[in-house]
Amino acid sequence: MQARGAGRALDWRQMKIALSTNAPLETAADLLALGVKSDRLQKDPTLKAIDQAFGGALQRLIADDGYKGNLGETLTIALPHGLRATRFVLIGLGSGSVTACDARSFGVKAAQVAARLGTLAVVAPGVGEAELRALAEGLATGSYRYTRYLTGDRKPKRQLSAVQVLLPSKANKAMQSAIDEGVAVAACVNLARDLVNAPPNDLHPIALAQTAKSEAHKLGLECTVLDEKAMEKRGMHLLLAVARGSSNKPRFVHVKYVPKKPKKGQKKVVFVGKGLTFDSGGLCLKPAKSMIEMKCDMGGAAVTLATVLAAAKLQLPIEVHGILACVENMPDGDAYRPGDVFPSMDGKSVEIINTDAEGRLVLADALTYARELTPDYLIDHATLTGACMVALGAFTAGLFANDDDLAKKYAAAAADTGESYWRMPLTDELRDTLKSDIADLKHTGDAHGGSITAALFLREFVGKTKWAHLDIAGPTFADRARNIYPKGGTGFGVLTALRFLEQLA
Ligand code: BES
Ligand code: MN
Ligand code: ZN
Repeated sequence: MQARGAGRALDWRQMKIALSTNAPLETAADLLALGVKSDRLQKDPTLKAIDQAFGGALQRLIADDGYKGNLGETLTIALPHGLRATRFVLIGLGSGSVTACDARSFGVKAAQVAARLGTLAVVAPGVGEAELRALAEGLATGSYRYTRYLTGDRKPKRQLSAVQVLLPSKANKAMQSAIDEGVAVAACVNLARDLVNAPPNDLHPIALAQTAKSEAHKLGLECTVLDEKAMEKRGMHLLLAVARGSSNKPRFVHVKYVPKKPKKGQKKVVFVGKGLTFDSGGLCLKPAKSMIEMKCDMGGAAVTLATVLAAAKLQLPIEVHGILACVENMPDGDAYRPGDVFPSMDGKSVEIINTDAEGRLVLADALTYARELTPDYLIDHATLTGACMVALGAFTAGLFANDDDLAKKYAAAAADTGESYWRMPLTDELRDTLKSDIADLKHTGDAHGGSITAALFLREFVGKTKWAHLDIAGPTFADRARNIYPKGGTGFGVLTALRFLEQLA
């Protein structure tokens, strides 16, 4: 079955960011943005120059408003005298030295303030490549809005299209490529957001697989899509069991980026993503309140696809695969039931307990497939458990790993990007709760430690492969804009996955 939106090219555009040596006071734009450290409110030379042009009005306003320059705090002035820009905004960067994360937050904030304007000029908060790359990431993700289904007056008439980054001296090649990389990465983050925001009647499993294929082909990547018959042949019975209740047929996607010039000792990383385009809970139907967000249940697949595309765009010297298990979980006369037993792709029999614990079933077969690709590291992203949100809150992802070195590497990548992960234990004692009377395994544990028992179930399918499981149920979808993330699909996870790969390279 093919719904309306299937295969339609997604409408995310690349922002144009130009580097320039224009003086802030002389730069014409709808908005001029300046970032300032809270401990440099009196000392920043650009701020001083602008204050002079204003005849001291900026410092008076800073004092009057009690403006501190805290991270993300803004002070806006319309029609500023002495400036060629029509609006000016001061954006706080917090204290300490300017980090790449600060530069990214600044870019996000500046783009948000400029959202409905046409042009923006920003004074670069730092001129190192890492800061410029992060600034571009911020600018191009900060202007994100999901507008695909808006019509008439709701359709935005203007959008931020051009940004100038003002530098103290002429940019070199490395600075320009840092900006280009940031824009490319942002496009991938925005794609992940679009996919999560897309309504599930349009973004069903076939549409998700088609999007993956067309985005992969745009970059010349190999992309294989298995239909039900092919999945049957491969013995993916757990995945197919989940799919049985839906008239939207499942798809299994394998997208592959191989560097053009292979390097000696080149690493191979396989990412796996849970791609439930909608999770009703199946026969163990969710209450309406928790069902409404369940279009986000393909967030793991979205991160996975975005990461492979980004690795390809940056031409990283690592082989990167993405496995997307695209399925819909629905109740139906043919749906799988509690009590059913199915064989997994790797031969273990699994007793179904709760049809709402579908993610781990789909992932079990996807991990088995992924393991056969003999990766150095196997990383899955999944909106897997509400229990993980109970444990860590909605903003933090659970990080499980069967290898301490991998866990450390991933946590280090996360520390660099500022995305929030917390290591969770694979508590061996809880393994007993997955014992079944009639099958090798049952697929849920007891009432307690739900995110851990889910991870323990997954561990049964990875063998000795170095593996990390990221439970992103909380941070994938937001009920309000926060930090660098918009409301709705956040794209959480892409930056860290990419950073992890760049650290390996
Ligand atoms: N997709 C959900 C988990 C989820 C919850 C994601 C909230 C995003 C936000 C998953 O398939 C699920 O339903 N998990 C159950 C497992 C339980 C039945 C063992 C849960 O967390 O309640
Ligand atoms: Mn579920
Ligand atoms: Zn789910």
